[in-house]
Amino acid sequence: MTSILVVLTAFGQGVAQPSKVHSSFKPGEVWTDTEGNHINAHGGGILFHDGTYYWFGEHKVEGKNGNKAMVGVSCYSSTDLYNWKNEGVALPVAAEGSGSDIEKGSVIERPKVIYNEKTKKFVMWFHLELKGQGYAAARTAVATSDKPTGPFTFIRSLRPHAGLWPKNATEAHKTVPIVVTDNDPKWEQKVAAGAYLQRDFEGGQMSRDMTLFVDDDGTAYHIASSEENRTLHISKLTDDYLGFTDDYVRIFPGGRNEAPAVFKKDGKYYMITSGLTGWAPNPARSAVSDDMMKGWKELGNPVRGTEDEQKTTFWSQSTFVLPIQGKKDSFIFMGDRWRPQNPIDGRYIWLPITFEEGKPVLRWQDEWKLDTSEKKQTKR
Ligand code: DGJ
Repeated sequence: MTSILVVLTAFGQGVAQPSKVHSSFKPGEVWTDTEGNHINAHGGGILFHDGTYYWFGEHKVEGKNGNKAMVGVSCYSSTDLYNWKNEGVALPVAAEGSGSDIEKGSVIERPKVIYNEKTKKFVMWFHLELKGQGYAAARTAVATSDKPTGPFTFIRSLRPHAGLWPKNATEAHKTVPIVVTDNDPKWEQKVAAGAYLQRDFEGGQMSRDMTLFVDDDGTAYHIASSEENRTLHISKLTDDYLGFTDDYVRIFPGGRNEAPAVFKKDGKYYMITSGLTGWAPNPARSAVSDDMMKGWKELGNPVRGTEDEQKTTFWSQSTFVLPIQGKKDSFIFMGDRWRPQNPIDGRYIWLPITFEEGKPVLRWQDEWKLDTSEKKQTKR
């Protein structure tokens, strides 16, 4: 169903399309906001607050700087999940030359926002790479706001857990140095064994692809790809969500997991991740545990479909799993179909998660709705 509403706006990436009222999800198609512009919130996450969903994501631009943070973190709002209003830039980059960690030209990825009931603040964490350093900095960063739409105030960036071993570190991790060189034939095994955990012990652990998860008791967790993207670290945040406690664990050492997305169903924690292939898609993975901090078990690729679909996660990479409000056990898988040659043209792959034999499952749908099982399974 489409109705023509606006044809006048432009948004720096060409003239907006006639805006449409959306009444279904169409994964992979251009998804226009209420002004007719392709939604610009990549690697995103969603906060539900006071009856409204807020979608935060990476604001991308055209061309070679497309993946750099030239503008900041976008925010969109919606009450129905189909139609999104552009709320502007929730966290703006700092001016060029300011020397700020979030200076224009840095890399800001995978922003996630949670609400702290005690402090009444909105807290955003994101993966930060410092300007001019490629992906070497591997930091996580925090900002806060009194309103969900911002403006968020940048607080600091850090490499977490400096001088601290994870709770599940062994005596060997702590006492037997692992020597690793760049061309080491046993590089992967040594990294899995903790070579970079040891290397980064004093300065703080690397933190790249990340997500946040708030548990029923209000405890917030920061889950990030660490140790040169080889091992996930799960960390408990402080009560105000603005810092890290000393409590963290390594999971799937050497597992090469990126793009973690966590959700909870029937008291169990589930995680969907990708493998490690840069911007290129790869097979998704899934895992389950009774406890966020221990006992994670792999459940395999959640994708059901053709070989190509399974090998590429429908040509996408996970970013978030959204619990649908008011619908028990209903979750949406949110993924990005990256377009590294023209990042602003990246597409969103939202699919319902079903459960089969205790495992989360994703199946392709060209078009789907929240309330009905109405589907159209034709071409991609
Ligand atoms: C894969 C990550 O999942 C993305 O968020 C991004 O960091 C790219 N790597 C960069 O190559």
